[in-house]
Amino acid sequence: MNETSKSEQRIAADTLHAYVRAIWESAGSAPREAELVADHLVMSNLSGHDSHGVGMIPRYVSSLGDGELQLNTHAEIVRDAGAVLTVDGRKGFGQVVAYEAMEHGIERAKKFGVCAVGLRNAHHIGRIGHWAEQCAKAGLVSFHFVNVAGDPLVAPFGGIDRRFGTNPFCAAYPREGKNPLVLDFATAGIAYGKTRVAYNKGVTVAPGMLLDHEGRPTVEPKVMHEEPFGTLTAFGLHKGSGLAALCEIFGGALSGGYTTHEDTLQKTSAIMNCMTSVILDPNAFDAPAAQAEAEAFLEWMKASPRGEGVDAIYAPGEPEDARRAERGANGVPIDPTTWKQIRESAQKSGMAEAEIEKFASALS
Ligand SMILES: NC(=O)c1ccc[n+]([C@@H]2O[C@H](COP(=O)([O-])OP(=O)(O)OC[C@H]3O[C@@H](n4cnc5c(N)ncnc54)[C@H](O)[C@@H]3O)[C@@H](O)[C@H]2O)c1
Repeated sequence: MNETSKSEQRIAADTLHAYVRAIWESAGSAPREAELVADHLVMSNLSGHDSHGVGMIPRYVSSLGDGELQLNTHAEIVRDAGAVLTVDGRKGFGQVVAYEAMEHGIERAKKFGVCAVGLRNAHHIGRIGHWAEQCAKAGLVSFHFVNVAGDPLVAPFGGIDRRFGTNPFCAAYPREGKNPLVLDFATAGIAYGKTRVAYNKGVTVAPGMLLDHEGRPTVEPKVMHEEPFGTLTAFGLHKGSGLAALCEIFGGALSGGYTTHEDTLQKTSAIMNCMTSVILDPNAFDAPAAQAEAEAFLEWMKASPRGEGVDAIYAPGEPEDARRAERGANGVPIDPTTWKQIRESAQKSGMAEAEIEKFASALS
């Protein structure tokens, strides 16, 4: 799978990681924070989710400038009910506070067999699969319901204006000796960041994903980036719209955070996420054959005769595994607009021009 288009160039993942770390250390992050942010953003790019990769840096820099994103801030357990933890992210980097919230949840799930973690007031927690993978690495199953608090971008089924966020849902299942199954998607037909990537590249999006400001279907990503603004639609008609509503309520309300409505509309460049995660220890079930049963099912599912033009039937997470292998070997593709925006962010972070130049010239 080689996805480099004519205008895109590639950068080695470790160089990109060092650039991201340097930007955040220049902005004032402690080394561990800069490392967690770089781990997350570069892994999103490696996984093929450029919408949640290094292209987010300009938005984070704006949020920092607006006094919203709080550097060097850690997750705080505000209520400890044993197998239920309520955690306040205190507007800290999502890449830090979600990591810490999952570490607490993992420890409790190993102790009790299950732990529900409500994380509220986290600055953007990015690709949710990253948090499910953290749980899976510890051998645990997890489900995650997330809202994008106060930042409506998606119309409900039957509606024509923005009423809720792109509210992602994620579930993961660890496999013995293999990468976990990771189902991780925005409940909008496409993630907002994918409209940004398409807009920056000057290409259209698939039909059925967007409505213009008068509710007419369109494939032009500019309706999300230029006035008059249109809206994304939920995936899967009433089913996706319903899942998005429950992500809003489980993520935003149950965590003690907030949901999207007139009083909570976000007025700055911050993206605030709340997430309710349920983390389970599969060893706590009386299911010694669970791994074998899962593998038998996956083999059966993948043996379906393929439709015309379909090269493979994938289990959840396998497309990301394939992209990680390809991009790990050949580098991460970055379009020129995104690369320029990251350079401007590096300048705003206070990084020395000579150091910026060293990284900026690494794109080949
Ligand atoms: N933090 C936030 O506020 C926020 C908001 C929205 C989305 N997101 C993130 O954006 C990312 C992208 O979301 P998306 O909706 O664009 O994802 P997507 O549409 O690419 O779907 C990804 C999921 O579908 C699976 N998949 C993809 N192609 C497949 C195929 N051919 N066969 C089988 N399975 C397949 C993948 O393994 C993955 O689980 C996600 O990581 C999500 O967590 C975050």
